[in-house]
Amino acid sequence: MRVTVIGTGHVGLITCVSLAELGHVVVGTDSDEEKIGQLDKGLSPFYEPGVEELLVSGMRAGKLSFTSDSTAAVAEADVVFICVGTPPRASGEASLVAVEQAAAVVGRHASRRTVVVEKSTVPAGTAQRVKQMLVRLKPDLAHEVVSNPEFLREGKAIEDSLNPDRILVGAESPSAFAVMRELYAPLIGNGCRLIETDIATAELAKHACNAFLALKISYANALARLCERSGADVVAVAEVMGADDRIGKQFLAAGLGYGGYCFPKDLVAFERLASGLGYKFRLLKEVARINDEAVEATAEKVRDALWNLENKKVTLLGLSFKPGTDDVRFSPALALARRLMSQGAVVVGYDPEAGAEAKAELPGLEVASDPYEAAGGADCLVLCSEWAEFRDLDLAKLDEIMQHPVIVDGRNFFEPEQMRAAGFSYYPTGRPAIY
Ligand code: UDX
Repeated sequence: MRVTVIGTGHVGLITCVSLAELGHVVVGTDSDEEKIGQLDKGLSPFYEPGVEELLVSGMRAGKLSFTSDSTAAVAEADVVFICVGTPPRASGEASLVAVEQAAAVVGRHASRRTVVVEKSTVPAGTAQRVKQMLVRLKPDLAHEVVSNPEFLREGKAIEDSLNPDRILVGAESPSAFAVMRELYAPLIGNGCRLIETDIATAELAKHACNAFLALKISYANALARLCERSGADVVAVAEVMGADDRIGKQFLAAGLGYGGYCFPKDLVAFERLASGLGYKFRLLKEVARINDEAVEATAEKVRDALWNLENKKVTLLGLSFKPGTDDVRFSPALALARRLMSQGAVVVGYDPEAGAEAKAELPGLEVASDPYEAAGGADCLVLCSEWAEFRDLDLAKLDEIMQHPVIVDGRNFFEPEQMRAAGFSYYPTGRPAIY
């Protein structure tokens, strides 16, 4: 099928390379010419394992190309994916300006009937708006509108996109469902579950999934606060909970909390949507509050260990919002850095991939090029995101180069016994500290 993808960000680019890999002829379009120039050279604008390999192989096979001319790109497409950003407005509501612009391009320039797929996470009701616009611009073409939310995780996006646990399609007509079945035929043929619903259900389900995962994390973090006060161990509590299949063991890891460009903004957008529909979804506000509290609780541990923060050097290991990505948007590590810096600490960070991004986001942060450079002379080290390479840290060397051997573990990454044996004062999250 001929597929056009509008927007080549995290969602759009993964959609491009995955659909080309499934055999479709894909054109990716973006208003950012610099980004298009980079993609044309086979370079991804962001770090995501496996994406550049698929980019290059798709382009070599003649299945994948990029252009900044969206008008030409939509003209002959069978399917157009809208993958543009939906950034939060000051109120927390999702801004749908870019979605409207993308829909207008299709409405004005598609020369034949096409299926318009919203892939960006949007509030329920958006597809209806897109449909109205398409009808108004060219009533005779009767384009179809479909909601097909993505569930991919950064750092595992290619894996999630080519081996998804489910494909969700919300549509109105049998012909639209048929097009989407054909589009994903190789994945469905491999046994992937296809869930077909009406459009509003698909739109709402995406927000419901993200909000529920965020809720699980905040539940674990609230338990961590309770464990810290009672002497219990939140890792063991989570293990007990996870042994119950009805609860499930994933997303119960207490720590610095969630970040990234999905959970924080989707949660607020979902709460705003509910409020707009006349329902006060207070639970979601509490989830966000507990998440903020997780950063403060970690800062409190640093203060507990160091007393006054003025002129103390604090090292942060891991600056991206989670391992496996260079994305620092809504990163809890940077929220912690801001808090510690505002209280007088000198904060030096290290991240295997996100150093430059972190520096751009927070210029006052010093960024080192390896963990030992970051930790030299530090009064305290905080593990903020659990990159696998931190498993190989030479603890004896850290002990030697740090001013004081104090580790605050914002992800319960280390084993307490390992820390005790290495002679560190160790402050994990929701577990007894070792002094
Ligand atoms: C998420 C969803 O998982 C994905 O389905 C959706 O499409 C987009 O949003 P992503 O933002 O890439 O994906 O990150 P994810 O791996 O889900 O982690 C989100 C955040 O939660 C990270 O900051 C992570 O460190 C944190 N987290 C995760 C916890 O604090 N505890 C956990 O138990 C799990």
